[in-house]
Amino acid sequence: MSDAIEPGKIGSMLPVISRRDFIKGVIVGGAAVSSAGYLFRASTLLAQSGSVAGRLITINVNGLQRRADVMKQETLAWTLRHKLGLTGTKLGCDRAECGSCTVLIDDVPHYACSVLTHTVRNRKILTIEGLANADGTLHPVQQGVVDEQGFQCAFCMPGFIMSSVAFLKANPNPTRAELANGVSGNLCRCQDYDKILTALMRGAENMRKTSHA
Ligand code: FES
Ligand code: FES
Repeated sequence: MSDAIEPGKIGSMLPVISRRDFIKGVIVGGAAVSSAGYLFRASTLLAQSGSVAGRLITINVNGLQRRADVMKQETLAWTLRHKLGLTGTKLGCDRAECGSCTVLIDDVPHYACSVLTHTVRNRKILTIEGLANADGTLHPVQQGVVDEQGFQCAFCMPGFIMSSVAFLKANPNPTRAELANGVSGNLCRCQDYDKILTALMRGAENMRKTSHA
């Protein structure tokens, strides 16, 4: 008797996987892979931090002189989040692709994951935490986001807001398309671009009504 399997019988021999099981598998697998990458990157940097002596430097963040013990290979995003507690700057890709780590350096947007901290010692860094007034009044772009309830999970929000603030200072009255182009260095994993743009356009309008224009 032959061991050959009739083609028609192959499907019935495979384990039955429901669509729900398949989707759960993809989500869990994808999450595990991306978390593993992030954790690997973090643990590598932590390991380096433990083995290489840092240097105490002062950087100007949100108008304050902040002291931090910094490795020569340490990124600004890492220093802001893990040394200075400014976790509003998000780390998404950690490789200059998503824009979630955007901060302003001397009013120009930069990906903080791709800037070495020791290179910005004489520069002015502005993060999302430094946007609101001391009395708690939100920056007009932040207020625009609140007004329009833009963003879904909002992980990308600080980066979008920082990019918009810089763009709107130079272009206070943009069309929707111009503003979209201005923040095109920022990505949203929730794909909520239409609402985001509506919120940022409201922010632009708010800016024109205030002294921020
Ligand atoms: S985390 Fe910096 S660009 Fe994505
Ligand atoms: S709203 Fe979720 S990543 Fe942009």
